[in-house]
This record gives sequence, structure tokens and C-alpha cells, in this order.
Amino acid sequence: MVWPIYKRLLVFVRPYLSQLFLAVFFMAVLSMTTMMYAFLSGPLVAAMITGGREGLGTFAKLFPFMADTFEKMPQEALTTWVPGILVVVATVKGVAFLGQHYLVRSLGQTVIVDLRNALFSKVLKLAPAYFDDNTTGDLMSRFTADVTQVETSVTEALADLVRNGLMVVGLVAQCFFLDFQLAAIAFCLVPLTALPVGQFMKYLRKQARAGQDSLGYSGTMLAEVLGGMRIVQAFGREPHELGKYKDEGAKYLKIMKRAIFARGVYSPIMEIAGVLGFAMLLVYATARIQSGDLEAAFLLSFLTTVLMVYQPVKQIGRVSNQILVGVAAAERIFEVMDAEETIKNKTATARLNGVDTGLHFKDVNFSYPGRDAVLSHINLEIQRGQVVALVGASGAGKSTLAALVPRFADPSTGSVFIDDIDITDLELANLRGLVSVVTQDTILFSGSVRDNIAYANPTASHAEIEAAAQAAYCSEFIAALPRGYETLIGERGVRLSGGQKQRLCVARAILAGSPILVLDEATSALDTESERMVQRALDNLMKGRTSLVIAHRLSTILHADQIVVMQDGRITERGTHQELLDKKGEYSKLYELQFQK
Ligand SMILES: Nc1ncnc2c1ncn2[C@@H]1O[C@H](COP(=O)(O)OP(=O)(O)OP(=O)(O)O)[C@@H](O)[C@H]1O
Ligand SMILES: [Mg+2]
Repeated sequence: MVWPIYKRLLVFVRPYLSQLFLAVFFMAVLSMTTMMYAFLSGPLVAAMITGGREGLGTFAKLFPFMADTFEKMPQEALTTWVPGILVVVATVKGVAFLGQHYLVRSLGQTVIVDLRNALFSKVLKLAPAYFDDNTTGDLMSRFTADVTQVETSVTEALADLVRNGLMVVGLVAQCFFLDFQLAAIAFCLVPLTALPVGQFMKYLRKQARAGQDSLGYSGTMLAEVLGGMRIVQAFGREPHELGKYKDEGAKYLKIMKRAIFARGVYSPIMEIAGVLGFAMLLVYATARIQSGDLEAAFLLSFLTTVLMVYQPVKQIGRVSNQILVGVAAAERIFEVMDAEETIKNKTATARLNGVDTGLHFKDVNFSYPGRDAVLSHINLEIQRGQVVALVGASGAGKSTLAALVPRFADPSTGSVFIDDIDITDLELANLRGLVSVVTQDTILFSGSVRDNIAYANPTASHAEIEAAAQAAYCSEFIAALPRGYETLIGERGVRLSGGQKQRLCVARAILAGSPILVLDEATSALDTESERMVQRALDNLMKGRTSLVIAHRLSTILHADQIVVMQDGRITERGTHQELLDKKGEYSKLYELQFQK
């Protein structure tokens, strides 16, 4: 299970393989020079000062060509050569260090950025329903905590794995080459460690996943509290929220401690197995030496090689840990990447340049997963240029119906048509270009007032933006802002009033200029003056468009061409304002309720 996920991660490294190999090369140079350093400053300095050349034996094994040269040199030559070479080696080592550090680290960051971009591009394609089931906070933690965990696992760990793996294979092969029997005894216990090590790795992976999930949950909580800080403070729930957050922290800590423990187990297991092998080797070798079958000097150099295997093996354990943790995090990233895109283009798509006859719901049924039907047998026609108003009690299904037009969701059965084309046959971008949406909550983005109005139409000229603002009754308050159109408005336009935000959203829809308008009027109570302005802005917005309007204030829709009353997901009445009043049904009840206030 680890490998397929890791393989998928490596896809993100593939474009940079040459960089990775260059890094491995620098790493190899780095360890070569580190070893050379030790030998140069030990045995060679000794040779240089005392003339004794005992230490050169081991040195000769590792760097035969250098040892040969040094061996032949007179002592005086050594006194000038050795210090010089030391400096050269230090310089090479420095360059190698910088090279591998820079390449590996920047590769890691590149992969992180690529991964985030891929994730973001995927998230943008997911239908709104996805975000009902997956919280913002958890998704954010996948973008941050999880992506970060992946970094070391695909870069440093990978490079280390390659480097140390090669080293182990080389050294073990060398041992077997030197003396097959000795090597067999030295390493016979290693395969036996696979079982306990494997178990701990599995455990570690589970804990790592639990840890990342817990971070995601903390993220969810944090995002909710930050978004609703006023409510938390107004109701005095700070201690409660803090308690919840601390509990999750404690849970995380417990998981992490287990993971840290599991990570620590590998090294001792390998060490004990190694020493056991080594001990057995000693017993066996001594016997062979006594029987005259083995030379002590040979045993010594064999043992040195065996001991050299330990270091890279330990490194491999360390990096496998990192890889496992990365894989656990990657799993969370790929869950998002694999989410089904429920709303997407069909293979053959139609295009429309405008609306000819209008919008038509034909026997539309809809239910949210696992819930009763929200819309039943909706048949509704909106002629081009007409305004159809939807009214009805809260929860009747009005917003749900409206959401079908831009395909935020698709009907369970039945279809929505523009002219004679089923909207699911339209190219999604084409459809959404035909429809402007003003939702129940006013959504503005960080940026200037201008950016927000021009959101759907970034190339709009200043005159067009001003005209839209004018039509939406925004010009006056925008002029009063400190920097006019360039004023930055916060994450959700915090520095604007509710009515001002609504009108900005209307200006945005006006500028978008799409032929079809879906307007889910905000419920927030506005004072009469503000309401009147929003109303005028909306009237301007509907002008010349085919509009489906959900009205909470009936004043909005007195002049609608058709008013449709919804109850429990069905259309129960339809007609003009006067017709419906005369009918004395649901609509007239709603109307009386509002105007009695
Ligand atoms: N994302 C969702 N997942 C599951 N059920 C939902 C979802 N959104 C709405 N519902 C349910 O669908 C029904 C209709 O909701 P809808 O938002 O369409 O009502 P509405 O008529 O717009 O109400 P209001 O006037 O309060 O805005 C409600 O019972 C609601 O609980
Ligand atoms: Mg609604």
C-alpha cells in the first residue's frame, strides 16, 4: 500500500530527475571528501611528520590511486602536498555540500509548489456539494501541513535512500566477495528483522495518518472560530472553544508520541541484530583463525567493511520513516485529487452565444444525497426578458432550484433547458458565461473595490466599472471611501455595511452582463432607505435580462411577469401579483403577513 502512493508522489519529482541525480552526485562527492578528509588529516599527516606510513593501508583501499602516489613521494614532497590537498578537498567538499543542499532543498520546495498548484486546480473543479462534506479548515491543512510533510519524503529522503542503498549494496557485495561464509554469518540475521521492522512501520504509518487527520480537525475548528469570532465572543464561548482546541492538541500529542516511539524502534532493532551477527562472526572467525584457516589481518579488514555497512543501514531506517510519514500525508492529498468531479463537461458539448427563447425547467426532481426529495416535478418556463419570481417558506427549495441553473448541482431526474439545449450538454464555461449569479450571502474577495466589481470581467474599462457601480447605487458610498475605487476591502468586505456589500455584488453581476440572471436575494434585514437602494439596484440589474429571482421581500417582485409559489419542493401557485392575491391562496397569506408588520 505504501509503494503505489509513493510512486504517485514520485510523478511530481519526475520532471526534475536530472536535478535529483545531480544532487545525489554531489552527495556522493560530499561523503567521499568527508572520508578523504579523515584519512588525509590522520594517516597522511602522521606520514608527513613522522615518516611512518602505517595508516596508509586502509587509506589505500579507499583511494588506491592517491595512496599509490603518496607512497612513492619523498617525505619533503608530502609536507607541501598534504596541506595543499587538504585545502583543495575542503573546497571540493564545500562546493559539494552547497550543491546538494541547494538542489535537494529547492527541489523539495518546487515539488511542494507543484503539488499545491495541482491540488488547487483540482479543488476549483469540484462541485459545491463537495465543500458541504469537506470543511475549509481540513482542506487548508491538506494544502499546508500535509504538503509540507511530503517534502522531505520525496527529496532528501529519496536522495538519501538512493545514496545509502547503493552504499549498502556495494559494501555487502564487497563482504561476500571477500569471504562468502563470513559475510553470510554477519548478515544472516538481517532478513529476520524484516518482520518486526515491518510491523512497526505499519504502526508508524497509521499513527502518522491519525496525526495528519487530527491536524486537519484542528484546522476545521480554527477556521470556524476565526470566521465566527464575533459569535464566539458574544456568547462567551471562548473557554469552550479553547477547551475543544486543547483537547484536540492533547489527542495530537498522544498520537505523535506513539509515532515518535515507533520511529525510534527501527534503529535499536537493527543495531541488536547487527551486533548479534557481529558476535556470531567473532566466535566463528576466532575458531577459523585458530585452525589456521583465516589470517587475523584479513579478518580485521573484513570487520572494518562490515562495520561500515551499519551507518548507511541506519540512515535507510531514518529515511524510510520519513517516507512513511510523507506517504500518510500524501494519502490525504490524493483523497482530494481523486474526488469525483460531479459537474463536468460532456464529451461532445454545444455552445450558445445568447438566449433566444428562454429558460425552461422540465419535470425537474432533486434530492441531496441521503435525504428526501427537495424538488418534485418542477415545470417552469421563463421567457426571454421576463422576470419570474420564486417565493415560499424557508426551506421550500428555492435556493436549490436556483442552484441548478449555473449547474452548481444537476437534477436527479428531469432537465433544465436554455432555448432547446439541455444545459448539461452546454460547455460548462459557456453556460456559466450566460448566467450571472447573485447568491444569498454576499461574497467579496480581498482586493480593491474595483477588483471586486470587475471580478467576472477583469478587462472592463474604468467607465464600464463606474457605470455598473452607478446602476447598482454604489457610486456614492464608493466616492466616500478613503481611496475610492482603489480602496481595499477585507476578506469578506468587513469594512462595508451589509447593504453596501449587497450592492457591490449587484454591480459585479451588472458588469458581468450575462443574459440570464439568477438572483437569490439576501435575507438580511436592511433599513428602509438601504432596502430602497438595493431594490433600485436590483431593478437595474434585471433590466433586459431573463431573470429568476428569489424574493424574500415581496416588494421586490410586485412587477414580476410571473410569481411562482413553492411549498415543500413543489410549485403550488403561479400567476401575477394581482392574480395570486385574488386567488386568496398561499401567496396572499404571505403577502398579508409581510405587510401587517
Ligand atoms: N447542501 C445541502 N445538503 C443537504 N440538504 C440541503 C442542502 N442545502 C439545503 N438543503 C435542504 O434542502 C431544503 C431546501 O433548502 P433551500 O436552501 O433550497 O431552501 P430555500 O427555499 O432557499 O430556503 P430560504 O428561504 O431559507 O433560503 C431544506 O430542507 C434544506 O435543509
Ligand atoms: Mg435560500
